[in-house]
Amino acid sequence: MFRRQILKSIGVAGLALATGISAASAQEVVKVGLILPMTGPSASTGRQIEAGARLWMAQNGTIVAGKKIELIIKDDTGAADQSKRLATELVVNDKVAFLAGFGLTPLALAVGPVASQAKVPAVIMAAGTSTIVASSPYFVRTSFTLPQNTAPMAQWSAANNIKTVVTLVSDYGPGLDSEKAFKAEFEAKGGKVLDTLRAPLMNPEFAAFLQKAKDLKPDALFLFVPSGQGASLMKQVGERELAKAGIKIIGTGDVTDDDQLNGMGDALIGMITSHNYSAAHDSPENKAYVAAFLKANNNMRPNFMSVGGFDGMAAIYKALEKTKGDTDGTKLVEAMKGLAWVSPRGPMSIDATTRDITQNVYVREVKKVDGQLYNVEFATIANVKGSN
Ligand code: PHB
Repeated sequence: MFRRQILKSIGVAGLALATGISAASAQEVVKVGLILPMTGPSASTGRQIEAGARLWMAQNGTIVAGKKIELIIKDDTGAADQSKRLATELVVNDKVAFLAGFGLTPLALAVGPVASQAKVPAVIMAAGTSTIVASSPYFVRTSFTLPQNTAPMAQWSAANNIKTVVTLVSDYGPGLDSEKAFKAEFEAKGGKVLDTLRAPLMNPEFAAFLQKAKDLKPDALFLFVPSGQGASLMKQVGERELAKAGIKIIGTGDVTDDDQLNGMGDALIGMITSHNYSAAHDSPENKAYVAAFLKANNNMRPNFMSVGGFDGMAAIYKALEKTKGDTDGTKLVEAMKGLAWVSPRGPMSIDATTRDITQNVYVREVKKVDGQLYNVEFATIANVKGSN
């Protein structure tokens, strides 16, 4: 047994030496370390981003500037200490040229110092707190920010006879960003925010907050929860009968997430949100994207996280093309600055100064289309910056 193993290893080594294949291909591989919550409460984010990244690779091949792209997926379960440990391992052991993924703000923030120290670009495909990108010169974002996605909702509200609003958000970075952006924009346009309610991120129980909101009798209740929590929030909104009390429900598109929307029920029809992506976005690029995504993923509908993954891989490919395959991290970040292309979400670019995403934000209404619930876009705010 032992002898056979030795012979086998000599055989493999001999073959590699004789042909040079193994040595050459080892040099030519460019590794992308994708750190995602594949299990735990944010598992849908991991699943959507992985599917988006794989679709980009299926459609664009795995050779870029003569190098073979290899994806390494690591599950951080949504725990920041795991994200940091995995990022360190990917840099030190796997020698990845890119880190990417990061399903929640605290997970991205935990990886920033690793990227900075190792000088490895880190592409944010999900997390949406505005300040993350500025926390490391190696961060680049292809997702969205909450101020970007929220301000249009406040503008629409002020222009549509909503005078008073209560906000209810998850009590962490993106929720606080969203609350702040809504209040600033809505009150600048003459509206009044009656109260700013914050529910815990983990295992949230919304009932008491919803009752409080109902008692305040605002014209509208504005909601933000991260992807994955929209269905349980909207179920509790339904149970409290806020609509019956004459309170309009509005929010960011995280709440009416395409990953869950169709299962949320017809009570959502008519709900207005603003966001950077809808599976119903009307463009040839998106029609092709949705069709290919459904086909490759057993009819799972793509949501906004999926395009973060798809476009994150686009940014990585385009950067490598620009550097002609040079994997120096500082050069790759430079190459990503100012990139612009048409995504399934519409036109997007990476701001050359902030490294954050500039994109269109759409105001949408939940409608039934061919028997399924979709966020149907009816207004576009063009080229909104992710952060300043
Ligand atoms: C975040 O943690 O930054 C985050 C996660 C999911 C969202 C939005 C923001 O839908």
